[in-house]
Amino acid sequence: MASANLRPTLSELGARVKELSETLERLLKESEVEAPTLAADSPVNISKFTPEIFTTKQHLQDAMNDLSIISQGPSESVFNYAHNAVPDMAALNILNRFNFWEAVPLDGSASISSIAEKVNLPEEAVKRVIEHATTLRYFTYADPAHPSSSPIQHTSRSAALSKTPGLRALVSGCIENVGPSMLVMPDALEKFALGKKELPTNVHETAFKLAHSGGQVFGDYNNSWELLENDGEGDKKGWRQRTFITWMDYLKDIFGTVDLLLNALDWSQQGEITVVDIGGSAGHDAIALATAHPNLTLIVQDLHECLPPSPPISPLPLPRVSFLEHNFFTPQPLTADIYLLKLILHDWPDAEAVAIVRNLIPALKPGARILFIDYMGKQGDIDPDMPRSITQFGTSTDLRMMALFNARERSLEAWRGVVERADARFEVGRVEANPLTYMVVMEVVWRGE
Ligand SMILES: C[S@@+](CC[C@H](N)C(=O)[O-])C[C@H]1O[C@@H](n2cnc3c(N)ncnc32)[C@H](O)[C@@H]1O
Repeated sequence: MASANLRPTLSELGARVKELSETLERLLKESEVEAPTLAADSPVNISKFTPEIFTTKQHLQDAMNDLSIISQGPSESVFNYAHNAVPDMAALNILNRFNFWEAVPLDGSASISSIAEKVNLPEEAVKRVIEHATTLRYFTYADPAHPSSSPIQHTSRSAALSKTPGLRALVSGCIENVGPSMLVMPDALEKFALGKKELPTNVHETAFKLAHSGGQVFGDYNNSWELLENDGEGDKKGWRQRTFITWMDYLKDIFGTVDLLLNALDWSQQGEITVVDIGGSAGHDAIALATAHPNLTLIVQDLHECLPPSPPISPLPLPRVSFLEHNFFTPQPLTADIYLLKLILHDWPDAEAVAIVRNLIPALKPGARILFIDYMGKQGDIDPDMPRSITQFGTSTDLRMMALFNARERSLEAWRGVVERADARFEVGRVEANPLTYMVVMEVVWRGE
């Protein structure tokens, strides 16, 4: 059995960081990818991910994390983390909520007073938040020797947020929306799980519900979709859902899930068919499918705030894509050839996931198919060579699902289990899982009448 090296010296880790950095630099050059810098004119990301670039980057991340721990000392590394983590998060939330990113020009600088005017906050708040932000490389002082009077400039990190609405939406989704629930996870465990053998699977006994039980700031909502749909008054109502839409659209780009979807079936060979995209957000996937395949007619179903207003303010993107408000906890009203459930069921515990699938049955004709595309959780033993930072990506999502819905990331077997519990007449056909992207594609055929 391989055992992890828990006694690396500082210089061994430093050498590993150097070696991996050089490898990454070489791989980027070979792929003609411009390497990012800390300056505002840096590329916003590493524009091409070969599997080799990806794993080298993650191994480098692991080595830097280990070096950071032993160079600080174990207790100081915890102290520093505990001292900084929440203020770091708060500063990022503030910069993001008030869009400081666009208050500073990308190719110039802005004074504290002009930023304060743009974000509509007192100068003192702006100054103090930016002071902390510069330690995290969000913004920098144009005159570092005189920070108290210096104009503010972008760094590559803040510039990336200025240029990328999807990244801003991701910050809002992962930190602002979910943060309060995750901070009360210990209280939720104490209240709902202490002394028990199993975690609750009831969606009303979550950390989310504890954080959102009627307090003035967080409101009284049963689950995060209710919050996203209903928070805000007047024109602001649904603002969180609109941000979520931008986040999903961004995820589609960074994880390449459109390619996954386009390759999930031989779409052009399916004839003239109708596809219902259940929980399809504002239609980014449906539009991509309809654009690539003229033989497909798509109907996007989602909650009210996701859908275009009726009548639409701007023309709908394609005549073959239409929208219908539909709650997937009620029976499916549309008969179609294929139902797409992409990144839907992982949000819900088994009972709700099974209910969502069962609600399709009244509309299903013989041979109708469901195409599942979702995250795949842990598959038992983990490859010891898998970078911890990749594992962390999955464990973070898993804890987020626990806080919000008492849900969990599912293994392949657990995914099959959901379908089989829904009804014995569902036949699981093709299953494809990619351990590097953590995505599973599963085709299910309805064998009922
Ligand atoms: C994680 S997002 C996935 C969006 C899209 N399918 C994708 O892959 O990018 C989950 C979607 O489920 C929708 N949703 C949540 N509860 C719903 C409900 N009860 N009925 C219909 N849609 C719902 C949300 O509004 C959101 O758009």
